[in-house]
Amino acid sequence: MQDRLKQVRTGGGSERPNMARLFDYYLGGAHNFAVDRLLAEESIARFPVAEMARTIRSFSRRVVRLCVEEYGIRQFLDLGSGIPTAGNVHEVAQSIDPSCSVVYVDHDPIAVAHARTMLRDNLDAAIVQSDVSDVGAVLRDPETRRLIDFSEPTAVLMIGILPYVTDEPAGVVARYRAALCEGSILALTHLTKDVEPELVGRLVDHLADGMHSPLVPRTKQDVEEFLCGLRLLEPGLVLAAHWRADGELPGASAAADASTYGAVGLVGP
Ligand SMILES: C[S@@+](CC[C@H](N)C(=O)[O-])C[C@H]1O[C@@H](n2cnc3c(N)ncnc32)[C@H](O)[C@@H]1O
Repeated sequence: MQDRLKQVRTGGGSERPNMARLFDYYLGGAHNFAVDRLLAEESIARFPVAEMARTIRSFSRRVVRLCVEEYGIRQFLDLGSGIPTAGNVHEVAQSIDPSCSVVYVDHDPIAVAHARTMLRDNLDAAIVQSDVSDVGAVLRDPETRRLIDFSEPTAVLMIGILPYVTDEPAGVVARYRAALCEGSILALTHLTKDVEPELVGRLVDHLADGMHSPLVPRTKQDVEEFLCGLRLLEPGLVLAAHWRADGELPGASAAADASTYGAVGLVGP
């Protein structure tokens, strides 16, 4: 056990923990390795991070439902999608309208391999392996072009991905926004230390250390900048747990609920 923990902390061995698989573990999925589970358990001991993952997943489900039911959107580009475990975008969207198409994007090869297996019988959903910051590559990918017609309203989902984008995140969001026509939606969540600086700070340091990759919480003001030029749907940029949460059970943890902002913006006049 100690050797394994050391391996997790140093990133040694053949496999490092990765957020796609940690997130899968937090959500009760089985597509993760021992190194992921160890870091996940260590992080759970520091912060209600599994509750945070469920809060984010629940926000994502509300947004997808809203897009299909109220805005008639039938195309989704889900950036930093991870492993499409239960309740993911294609399941929610296609359960309302089976003609919905979904393109997932993730850079983790193992998440992509799992996703390909899970989606192999679904002609209207695919995963693209790419860095989300390479906007041109994502938009030009043959699967993106096959499944998404950007002259039609499209939802771009940036759920839990922007803390991993360290180089000009506002520019990356703006380039996706520029690809969207009127009537499209851009939705995001973002990790923040605004409300719980010490607890979230400890979580971030621990995860970044374990994964050997940066994780950047941002302030409300930073996130507002990402939403520039979009017409924010009510209630605007708020904690994701509070975004149109009527009828959903409140989160089990106040700290988890206070760790993530969420917002949904409409492209249009
Ligand atoms: C917190 S998880 C979010 C998962 C998913 N959006 C959800 O709501 O369940 C972040 C995901 O982003 C992926 N990721 C991180 N940096 C990335 C990058 N630069 N390009 C593509 N994917 C990235 C990770 O592999 C991971 O699957």
